[in-house]
Amino acid sequence: MEGGPEIDYFRRFVERNGQPALDVACGTGRLLLPFLRAGLDVDGCDVSEDMVAFCRERAEREGLSPTLFVQPMHELDPPRTYRTIVVCGGFAVGSDRTHDRLALSRFYEHLQPGGTLVLDNEVPYSDARQWSRWLPEGRAALPEAWPAGNQNRRRASDDSELALQSRLVALDPLEQHATLEIRARQWRDDRLVAEEQHVLDLGLYFANELGLMLDRAGFEVVAVHGGHEERPATADDDFVVFVARKPLSVA
Ligand SMILES: C[S@@+](CC[C@H](N)C(=O)[O-])C[C@H]1O[C@@H](n2cnc3c(N)ncnc32)[C@H](O)[C@@H]1O
Repeated sequence: MEGGPEIDYFRRFVERNGQPALDVACGTGRLLLPFLRAGLDVDGCDVSEDMVAFCRERAEREGLSPTLFVQPMHELDPPRTYRTIVVCGGFAVGSDRTHDRLALSRFYEHLQPGGTLVLDNEVPYSDARQWSRWLPEGRAALPEAWPAGNQNRRRASDDSELALQSRLVALDPLEQHATLEIRARQWRDDRLVAEEQHVLDLGLYFANELGLMLDRAGFEVVAVHGGHEERPATADDDFVVFVARKPLSVA
């Protein structure tokens, strides 16, 4: 992944007296690399060894040598404390509610007093098809079929073609939990040569609920932004972003 409005949005928090910073769930560095290019003091971590290895390789190609480490966020134990922790597209991915609560506590613990957590969350009603599965008749049609055809094929630098597809296989509205299957396929000369399939668990959080969880972890929620823009979230936003501060002193 490259580009996107998230990069400038999150970067502004780091620039405004927010260093050092940690990019949690940094992936291959979509946010981290532009931050480093801008001369910002930012570390990165991700649960995936592969992602971190790709990120390191990309950074080194540009002569950058960030501190990167492999850790699940609920066991976050970084080498230093931070003024800012950013989490973009990584919260509640592949985890469960206990781990999600633990992750928020870890963010709190590893922020400096007065430091800021900036964490985004896709709202459960952002996708009309998935939202319909919250109803009994919608769930009765699960698992979804794989999308027909070979759409979304993209040509790679080695001239093969790659496609990534997903389908919802289960949704539990009581637990607010969705299970997806992700399928990656590769073609050469129009012949399917490789296929991988994996399960992805997603926790589904509403904004007020996540606000309460942050509150419980000790944070003061200072803003809830919409759509990776510095304006209050509205009911039409697919993503909400929590700007939460660790108090300067704990009473
Ligand atoms: C959608 S990608 C987002 C990557 C990057 N932040 C971005 O915006 O481009 C989600 C990332 O979260 C990571 N991830 C998932 N669960 C995690 C966990 N429990 N702890 C740390 N990273 C996690 C994945 O490995 C993946 O790199």
